[in-house]
Amino acid sequence: MNDYLPFVSRILSVVKHTEIEYTFRLSYDGVVRPGQFFEVSIPKYGEAPISVSGIGDGWVELTIRRVGKVTNEVFEHYVGDTLLLRGPLGNGFALDLFQGKELLVVAGGTGAAPVRGVIQHFAEHPQDCKALTALVSFKKENEILFRDDFSRWSNTANILLTMTRQQESEKYLLGRVTNHIPNLQFENIKNAVAIVVGPADLMQSAVAELLKIGFQEKNIWISEERKMCCGLGKCGHCRVGKTYICLEGPVFNYTDGKMFLD
Ligand SMILES: Cc1cc2nc3c(=O)[nH]c(=O)nc-3n(C[C@H](O)[C@H](O)[C@H](O)COP(=O)(O)OP(=O)(O)OC[C@H]3O[C@@H](n4cnc5c(N)ncnc54)[C@H](O)[C@@H]3O)c2cc1C
Ligand code: FES
Repeated sequence: MNDYLPFVSRILSVVKHTEIEYTFRLSYDGVVRPGQFFEVSIPKYGEAPISVSGIGDGWVELTIRRVGKVTNEVFEHYVGDTLLLRGPLGNGFALDLFQGKELLVVAGGTGAAPVRGVIQHFAEHPQDCKALTALVSFKKENEILFRDDFSRWSNTANILLTMTRQQESEKYLLGRVTNHIPNLQFENIKNAVAIVVGPADLMQSAVAELLKIGFQEKNIWISEERKMCCGLGKCGHCRVGKTYICLEGPVFNYTDGKMFLD
């Protein structure tokens, strides 16, 4: 296997969440973890790293926001078409780290994509953790990703969705995730574990709030999105000091990863 060579993957289904955010289910038979990523490529347009947002028998899902050259072109593809993929790349989330613990997942916007698989696992296997809370922010109700999943998972997990740019809502919380962190209840906060993924300002402020309410740094996990190119530790685009985010991340324990937060 040449890691530089993309392979062809068929689009099995497409779910349109918003005008600019779709989930593509793509054929894939290998082993993959939530939080890992694939390089999606379109000849003549380039490659874009995209997190795995769903894993199933013979497929993976990638939830893509249309923002530029490659992602615009991906949105021109439909069920039955093919995309080129390289990966899975990066480390991803090791689910056994959260086994038997009180787990809090904090995410914002497309940051919900890399953690969807983690929430799904513990919501569908509630016996595997002590308690699961997911606190996820979107700008407005019409921008919610994975709406049906969240609604289903709320039967077994504490799912809290908050709208950051909405003045009122009958169904959801309002304002930034940081406003709601102090209201969360934990039996033993010193042992509780948290995953924080999203835009840089959300990660900074959410982690600061978690530390304030008693979380330990070593129990917080973050995922870093850096400008990436090869994804294989060769080009240096993602390098910070001696660390190649593509190889050692994108998931980091906060004690190591805090130096990479912008
Ligand atoms: C590990 C990792 C995981 C990721 N996971 C996801 C995911 O799950 N889903 C997802 O949607 N994204 C994800 N991303 C982000 C995604 O990789 C980028 O959005 C993607 O690379 C954009 O590629 P593009 O060619 O479409 O955009 P580009 O054309 O490269 O544009 C990227 C951004 O730069 C801006 N830009 C482009 N050209 C210029 C210019 N000349 N001047 C100023 N601004 C410019 C664009 O407006 C856009 O915001 C992830 C990134 C990483 C590193
Ligand atoms: S993306 Fe090339 S070294 Fe990490």
